[in-house]
Amino acid sequence: MPLLIRDAAEVLTMKRGIGVKKNCSVLVEDGVISRVGRFKDPAGGRVIDARGCVVCPGFVDSHTHLVFGGTREKEFALRISGATYEAIARSGGGIASTVEQTAKTSEEKLYELGRQRLQRIIRHGTTTVEVKSGYGLLPEVEYKMLRAINRLKRRAPIEIIPTFLVHAVPKAMKRRQYLDLVTEEMIPYVAQRDLAVFCDVFCDRIGFNRKESERILLAAKEHGLKLKIHTDEFANIGGAQLAAQIGCTSADHLVVSTKRDIAAMKDAGVVPTLLPGTSVFLRLSEKPDVRAFRTAGSTVAIASDFNPGSCMIYSMLKIIALACLSYGMNVEEALIGATRNGARALGVFDRAGSIETGKQADLVVLDVDNYLKIPYEFGEDMVKYTVKKGKVVYGQDN
Ligand code: NIG
Ligand code: FE
Repeated sequence: MPLLIRDAAEVLTMKRGIGVKKNCSVLVEDGVISRVGRFKDPAGGRVIDARGCVVCPGFVDSHTHLVFGGTREKEFALRISGATYEAIARSGGGIASTVEQTAKTSEEKLYELGRQRLQRIIRHGTTTVEVKSGYGLLPEVEYKMLRAINRLKRRAPIEIIPTFLVHAVPKAMKRRQYLDLVTEEMIPYVAQRDLAVFCDVFCDRIGFNRKESERILLAAKEHGLKLKIHTDEFANIGGAQLAAQIGCTSADHLVVSTKRDIAAMKDAGVVPTLLPGTSVFLRLSEKPDVRAFRTAGSTVAIASDFNPGSCMIYSMLKIIALACLSYGMNVEEALIGATRNGARALGVFDRAGSIETGKQADLVVLDVDNYLKIPYEFGEDMVKYTVKKGKVVYGQDN
């Protein structure tokens, strides 16, 4: 059944800049966008009246840790009183605390928690989401997480891209021994069973060093996985340069990346991904050099980094607002980052991230009459409909 989204005040096509088209309709047939413009209503099918609304591509959240056991609101409170993320991590909290909780949580329960969180992000307009493992560390728990993520992927109304994240060394193991296990056993296991599209590594002062990260990513590449890296969040240990050298699809965080790093990523086609929610959550005063990314002409993506420790923000609308308010990205850059460039960061731009004929009809209808109001009405629940492949997966009237 066709779907017509009629007479939107603005359609943000994301072609050439944000590509605003005023007083415009979008026709969807067989889950695909078949027309964008001004035309008479074709007979039959469902009609969504979008008068006074902005229609934009469904948000592509290219970096999340959506599946985990337990929560860490006590650490949130500790940070408000002045403790730092790194200090909490060193004293046994942080990732280690979620690792403990996740080990105790059954696969079924992880799936159920993921399903509930997914419902929330769909309500906030996300239509494609990357989900990482990384709270298992040990093989059996990592595989349990990845199986839960893949079950979500099969059943969810939106697209899920699974990532195998090498996050930390388990308590009972030596670094060297763990690196052998990851590269010789876990990566081949994950790749052979198609449990992940990407492999990611936490390359930072409290994670893996550059050499260790390189070893992990090279093994992943050899096994046909695409690559991501968490880096330059706390200290610059050469992670962005490594991303450029090794051909990562994206490098994420990049708070302390230099102009040289930014140029290297640009030259190598790495999508720089900024996570403004995390900076706010961790109360970090350092900010990425947004101006340098702009000058370099980088394809900057923004994502939520949704996770129990450093960002519990489900909504890409809030991430867009924080990209503007906290990082100083302009509204257009933030919107492009959450759609078109998010899709590039996940390698799905062939089908998602813009409103063009022939692309998947992944759309969000927002109850604002022009796009500047998207971050301006900060925190407002403005999603009227979320549409995935032409199907209404969330609607305020259904
Ligand atoms: O992307 N930086 C490392 N990993 C996560 C946080 C994980 C956690 O604290 O649970 C991140 O911010
Ligand atoms: Fe992360």
